[in-house]
Amino acid sequence: MADETKSRRLQPVGRRTFLRYSLFGATSAGLGGFGLAALAQLWPRPGDELTGEVPIGVAAELASEIDGERAPYRVPEGGLSIVRWDPANAAAERAYGEDHAVGEGFGLMALYTQACPHLGCAVPWCQSSQWFECPCHGSRYNRYGEWTGGPAPRGLDRYASFIEDGVFVVDFSNLITGPARTANALEQSAEGPSCVDA
Ligand code: FES
Repeated sequence: MADETKSRRLQPVGRRTFLRYSLFGATSAGLGGFGLAALAQLWPRPGDELTGEVPIGVAAELASEIDGERAPYRVPEGGLSIVRWDPANAAAERAYGEDHAVGEGFGLMALYTQACPHLGCAVPWCQSSQWFECPCHGSRYNRYGEWTGGPAPRGLDRYASFIEDGVFVVDFSNLITGPARTANALEQSAEGPSCVDA
């Protein structure tokens, strides 16, 4: 009797049954991932509660720190990565000169890296490639937040900013939609290994 029970338990799973369960599992995992990403879009994020013009720091010091570290200056409470841009680059000046801070020989931009334009994941900086790289589905953006690959529909969104009395100020009431996929004022290739799988 015990042997009969054992043999019933050990019946091999049919190929169709196996495929059916595999398909169900994959679909559930996919929907689960999508649901979490959608939920992340609705959840309040850093920066959502900030409004108006917020001084961040002395502009020239921020620019030199960004240069020295070869990394953006992070403002976590605003969901920001502050990057340096070059107003002497004609294409960059045309694309970003109107809405972003310009100082003495440098520019600063406040990228909103807390929410990837694809499905809302935070997008960290990758020191080795010198790009922003999204760990969720592999979208990548150059140092100006311009799209360089992956499923995101555009570059990173960014806040308007300016320099007043030498201080870099971010205007949290003016969130600018990221540049189109075709934007490539920086023309920056990856400078080293990627931090996420493609
Ligand atoms: S959330 Fe999908 S690539 Fe960033």
